[in-house]
Order: sequence, then C-alpha cells, then structure tokens
Amino acid sequence: MKIGILTSGGDCPGLNAVMRAFAKYVCSHIEDVKIIGFLNGYTGLIEREYEILEEKDFENLLLAGGTMLGSKRQPFKQITVSDGNNRSKLDKMKETYEKLGLDCLVTLGGAGTHKTAALLASEGCKVIGLPKTIDNDIWGTDVTFGFSSAMEIATECIDRMHSTAASHGRIMLVEVMGNKVGWLTLYAGIAGGANMILIPEIPYDENAVIAFLEKRRREGARYSIVAIAEGAVSVEEAKLKRKEMAALRAARGETTATERLARAIEEKTGVETRTQVIGYLQRGGSPNPYDRAICTLMGSYAGELAEKKKFGVTVALSGGKVTYNSLADIAGKTKSVPPAHQMVKAAKAVGISFGESENKKE
Ligand code: F6P
Repeated sequence: MKIGILTSGGDCPGLNAVMRAFAKYVCSHIEDVKIIGFLNGYTGLIEREYEILEEKDFENLLLAGGTMLGSKRQPFKQITVSDGNNRSKLDKMKETYEKLGLDCLVTLGGAGTHKTAALLASEGCKVIGLPKTIDNDIWGTDVTFGFSSAMEIATECIDRMHSTAASHGRIMLVEVMGNKVGWLTLYAGIAGGANMILIPEIPYDENAVIAFLEKRRREGARYSIVAIAEGAVSVEEAKLKRKEMAALRAARGETTATERLARAIEEKTGVETRTQVIGYLQRGGSPNPYDRAICTLMGSYAGELAEKKKFGVTVALSGGKVTYNSLADIAGKTKSVPPAHQMVKAAKAVGISFGESENKKE
C-alpha cells in the first residue's frame, strides 16, 4: 500500500506524535507499506515535493514539537482557480496522487485542510483526515489534538499575570489565539482564573466591560485579568461583515481589538492597563501528556482506517471514544462556542464576566 501523508495549515504540538503512531500502526499491520511524506502541506502535493519515509524516520517523535514535514497554508479559495495555464492546484494535486500511484492520502490539519481533503475525496482520491488545531474548532470531534497543550501554555501565561498585575494594581488584557472561535480563551481563561473572558462568539459591550472592572475595583479588587481572544469583537463590530471589519481595523492600524480596548479601559477607569499577546508560544514545543495520548490514539486509529480501506473520513473523538466522520459531512462547518455552552455557564457561575450588556445576560 502506497500512502501519502502531509501536515497543512498552522502547526501545533502533536503533529509529529500523530504521524509516529500512524506509521507504527501501518508498518506493523499492513504488508508492503510505502510512506511518502509531502513537504509543506498541500504545496508538496501540488509541486510534487516529497520524501520517501521509512519506519525509522518516525522514531523519537512523540515529544517533538512542530512537524517534520513542514507546513503551509494553501487558501482554499485558490485551490480550484486556474493558475493561468488552465491548471488549478486541485488538478495538480490529483495528478501527483495518480502519478505516484497512491492508495491513500492522510491529511493532518484544521478546518481549511479538511475542506480541501473533502474536495480531493469528492474527486476520487482516498483520503483520511486527522483533526489538528489549537483552536478546537473542527466540527464533529469533542477535541482536536494540540488544543490541550496550547491551553496549558495559555493558562500558565495567565497564571503568571496575577502576581505582576497584583504588584502594580493593574488591569491586564491577555490575548489568546483564536481568530474565529473562543474555545482556547474560554478554557484557558477559566483555568487561569481570569475575571473576564472575551470571545468572538459573545460580542462585548465596551461600557459593560468597563462597568464590570470598575465594580470589581469598588469592591476592593486590586487588579483584574481579562482573557481576550484575538478574534474578540465589540457589539458594533459584530454587525459588520468580516471584510468590512478587517478594512476598518486596517484603517485604524490594528489587527485585533485588544490594544484599543485596553486604551478605552485605562481612559475610563483611570487604572493602568497593560496588554500581553501570547501568540506563537501557544503553538510551539512538545505536546502535553494528554495530547501525546490522544495523538497516539488518533494516529493509530487512522492506521486502522487505512488497513480497513475506510476512506473519505476524518478521525474524531466522541464521548471519549475514537471514531470517524465523513469528510463531506464536516467540511466547511465550524465548531464555535455556543453562548449557552455549559462551560460558559460554569464561568458565569463563578463570577466571570463575558462583557455583555445587562439586557444580554442570561
Ligand atoms: O492554528 C490556528 C491559529 O492559531 C489561529 O488561532 C490564528 O489566528 C492563526 O492560527 C494564526 O496563524 P498564522 O499566523 O500561522 O497564519
């Protein structure tokens, strides 16, 4: 069996651990296996850049961060667009798949990667997906690999804000990754003891944010911590189309709301307010123990799917059990945080504010 494998989109802890488990499974369960590793995501499939990998190449990868194959974003919108020579990237990918005589293609990636994987599957390629992303936004799986490790890092960063914020009596806004969804900010915010959590799914009211922080101050709190997702939006911004909002932010010279909100808070409350963007620290380094375990589970299960010739699917965890979903069913869907999610309710129960105006609160 000739198997192609690639890692696409933003990296995260656990990509190597999943590939290790997959390779160990297929090498020990399927006869005459050849693994072809495409370099830099779908780009390797398009440009036919790859390495022939042997079982030994997958050793010592459990703890290794990043991806040994390299990764790159290939915007989905450009996949079917002709390159000027009447060749779309999709055509080139299919050609590589056929020319190399692949029996299966394994794609490790997030929402965009899954969209392309579903397209390739609909074009006759035999694809198995694996759900990677620190954003945890892939439809149909309880959790994606990489999320737990990123949560641990983000939580430690928020933890460390408490002492410095307390020392100076400041308000600290900690920006957590998550451009479209707030899972990471929600979980790390709760775990890190943030007083306020701002996520894209629950647009914040600036006046409500300020009123909450002032009330805390009046009641004796020396400092406050706000966990804010990079994709957090105000109620006014939420009324705009995505492109309009991006244009407005570009005109203001900002990519996220964090700094603007911090300045508004400082101006209105008179309390020194600082920001901390955690950024790529959340994506770098080793997977944590939980991710190592689920990477092993998901990777070996993907190997089992290949052995059983079950294609056009992606691996998922559901109710603690490993399973699969059809790529066609999950492609293009986003698992956002439902505003009434039990974790949001739990956060509210312990006094965490989501920056909602009074009439919006449940
Ligand atoms: O992997 C998802 C993510 O971490 C998002 O939360 C973030 O917006 C994005 O990647 C940024 O990634 P890059 O700068 O590598 O494109």
